[in-house]
Amino acid sequence: MNREIHEVLFSEEIIAQKVKELGNKITSDYQKQEELIVIGVLKGANIFLGDLVRQIQLSVYIDFMAVSSYGNSTFSSGIVRILKDLDLEIEGKHVLIVEDIVDTGLTLKYLTENLKSRNVASLKICSLLDKPFRRKCDLNLDYIGFEIPDAFIVGYGIDYAEKYRNLPYIATIKE
Ligand code: IMP
Ligand code: MG
Repeated sequence: MNREIHEVLFSEEIIAQKVKELGNKITSDYQKQEELIVIGVLKGANIFLGDLVRQIQLSVYIDFMAVSSYGNSTFSSGIVRILKDLDLEIEGKHVLIVEDIVDTGLTLKYLTENLKSRNVASLKICSLLDKPFRRKCDLNLDYIGFEIPDAFIVGYGIDYAEKYRNLPYIATIKE
């Protein structure tokens, strides 16, 4: 099954340690807030979100959005379509978007503009992985797990053609 895997970048243990750190930081930053709405971007952020919320010692509400970029699947076009919107009402709430990986940033740019227009009390972004050299827009990430170079990666929720989401580690794949 794993013959396309090239190199493991982050082991299960390293990821778990980083997720714990992020959870602790978020817990202390939101200490004064009564509740936090955590929004996962499907499908990639699902596994990260599941682990992250269990490291946050606050009253957390969970919701998901599904989006798709139009056009070529390996290049983000910046035109984003909402496939699944929120179930929860977020007006006046503190909202944290949880994403697996930020590449061009165009998906999250669209998403943050969209969610801000719903009059939230605050909006922050937490991404497990960041490819800063690929950025095509101005986007502020509040919490980042790891910065990575410009390589295609899979595992821990992240796919290549819908495969490899269930790998417990994060790895590069062969070209
Ligand atoms: P952006 O709009 O270019 O920032 O797109 C980010 C989305 O592209 C992520 O949420 C992933 O779904 C996908 N993506 C970006 N880089 C990778 C990668 O290395 N492996 C798998 N998916 C990726
Ligand atoms: Mg994603």
